[in-house]
Amino acid sequence: MATLPIDSRVSTPTADFVAQKHRMFIGGRFVFAASGKTFPVYNPATGEVMAYVPEAESEDVDRAVNAAREAFDNGPWTRMKPSERGRLLWKLGDLLEQHLEEFAQLESLDNGKPLTVARAADVPLAVDMFRYMAGWATKITGSTLSLSFPGDFHSYTLREPVGVAAQIIPWNFPLLMAAWKLGPALAAGCTVILKLAEQTPLSGLRLAELIHEAGFPEGVVNVLTGFGEGAGAPLAAHPKVDKVAFTGSTEVGRLIVKAAAGNLKKVTLELGGKSPAIVFPDADLDKAIAGTASAIFFNQGQCCCAGSRLLVHEKIFDQVVEGVSGIASRIKIGHGMDPETELGPLVSDEQFHRVTGYINSGVEEGAHVLTGGKAGADRGYFVQPTVLARTTPEMKVVREEIFGPVVCAQSFSDADLDRIASDANNTAFGLAASIWTRDLSTAHKLASRIRSGTVWVNCHNVFDASLPCGGYKESGWGREMGEEALRNYTETKAVTVAL
Ligand code: NAI
Ligand code: MG
Repeated sequence: MATLPIDSRVSTPTADFVAQKHRMFIGGRFVFAASGKTFPVYNPATGEVMAYVPEAESEDVDRAVNAAREAFDNGPWTRMKPSERGRLLWKLGDLLEQHLEEFAQLESLDNGKPLTVARAADVPLAVDMFRYMAGWATKITGSTLSLSFPGDFHSYTLREPVGVAAQIIPWNFPLLMAAWKLGPALAAGCTVILKLAEQTPLSGLRLAELIHEAGFPEGVVNVLTGFGEGAGAPLAAHPKVDKVAFTGSTEVGRLIVKAAAGNLKKVTLELGGKSPAIVFPDADLDKAIAGTASAIFFNQGQCCCAGSRLLVHEKIFDQVVEGVSGIASRIKIGHGMDPETELGPLVSDEQFHRVTGYINSGVEEGAHVLTGGKAGADRGYFVQPTVLARTTPEMKVVREEIFGPVVCAQSFSDADLDRIASDANNTAFGLAASIWTRDLSTAHKLASRIRSGTVWVNCHNVFDASLPCGGYKESGWGREMGEEALRNYTETKAVTVAL
């Protein structure tokens, strides 16, 4: 069980945490898996094992669900004043902020992402999310209604917590995805079982310690580490769970829907994307080139909203695509802990093979590699930022989510916005899009015609706790963040009193 030394740049609190004997968080206690089983956590920059974490299976899932059920049905949590729930969430945000550097390092080590990114984005955005939702705890209200039914009535609605929520998250933003999920559920008064991604369990386990320290009553938040089939599937199917929220692949999203059917759990899904970045000739091209490059290469392309289809007007196609390729070829690839690094490794060996497999399939189908296309180092899961040109809508690389630093460039010749919208919408997904133009009319008309949950104009990957995020079509059900996220975790009750 000995773990390997991780990295000399890692500070002592982070190294101590990584080296500890990891436990899950169930019913307010830190526990090993009932079976005693563990599984390894890899450093994606080296492929070495950094730690072992408990492998939750059905028995652990049962314990966590029972703890959450008990906390919801009989614990102090649901009787607690909303301001007290808000105070606990705010405190969690404060604690996280106090440990910003430690969490940024954990995130970089575990996911591979540049430390500079984790420091500037992952951790502060997670802090913001807890604080934003802390504010909502006291503002979840119903309404009074005037009835036309014969007689005199006083009618009002109550918004009540949906109950026990199972939350299953991915590895691309491990801490931030935990915050997106926990924030609204706790603000609404639900209790939670959070299943971390098997690739990146460390920041979530450390967050469980802060949840304990913040003083949430026992059983309100339970944190499990385990695999999809062993832990995620029994959780999604569990009869004592009222709601399941999932972020991950479309394929598993469909399994979650089936698993939830047994007791008709409420389901929200945040799934894949194949988001277009559409560049018009009148755009500020320097900004458009830098912005569309960042749209795909940020977080090694492992973003649900990544701008993975670059649609450029033919007049400026060469200039934009060469510009993006130029940036791609200059991006500094390296270990996430290196301060110079702009692009780290992919999260896992599996993702490395998936992404390089897609690049090869693109080439086989006739795409032209303008830059990149290969592994980015001799060890670790690095893939070069890659620009594919001469791609067509039928190709697999254009239809399917690659989830790596690979963009498919296509040109359009039209000025007809309906035709451009139809190209943009030519996908099973509908998560996001960006439009690059100086023409307000083009921007707003196209924004209304694109079938996706988010549209950015002259920017991409702008996320804020107040902005709802989610998908049309096969990109999912429901919205995360913003006021809308609270709907996922509340039921509306209509109360009518005959006067
Ligand atoms: P995945 O969908 O298998 O995993 C996401 C989460 O679901 C993990 O916590 C996993 O343990 C859990 N899970 C897996 N199978 C499950 C099951 N049968 N029941 C319940 N939970 C289950 O995604 P994976 O395999 O890590 O990545 C595959 C692809 O999914 C990526 O290449 C990417 O295209 C997409 N993806 C999209 C994400 C997004 O943000 N929308 C995030 C991660 C992956
Ligand atoms: Mg999977």
